[in-house]
Amino acid sequence: MDVGCHIGDTEKLIVDQHPKIHSIIGLDYDEKRINRAEKRWEQDEKKITFVQGDAAALPFEDNRFDKVICAEMLEWVKEPLRAINRGLVG
Ligand SMILES: C[S@@+](CC[C@H](N)C(=O)[O-])C[C@H]1O[C@@H](n2cnc3c(N)ncnc32)[C@H](O)[C@@H]1O
Repeated sequence: MDVGCHIGDTEKLIVDQHPKIHSIIGLDYDEKRINRAEKRWEQDEKKITFVQGDAAALPFEDNRFDKVICAEMLEWVKEPLRAINRGLVG
């Protein structure tokens, strides 16, 4: 999962560079960015799913993901420690 995925560039890059990857979820707070990301990659990439959500209250069960990326996102969050403690870490 990529938390704060913006319009999905990282998802496309990872899938292209790691063709054996099973799947990746890009999550972002901004619904417009999620919609844009979905439109950009819907034609040619079935391994990527985009989800609207908040890093401080991730809509997934604990231990769901093998790896989590969160790049250049925490500086945008009003309460970054809350995001780390209650969202990203569980
Ligand atoms: C600078 S972009 C980072 C994009 C990408 N991760 C990268 O490294 O290029 C920050 C993104 O974090 C998202 N964001 C901000 N607060 C968020 C939150 N609480 N939960 C999820 N995403 C959030 C913004 O909507 C924005 O798309």
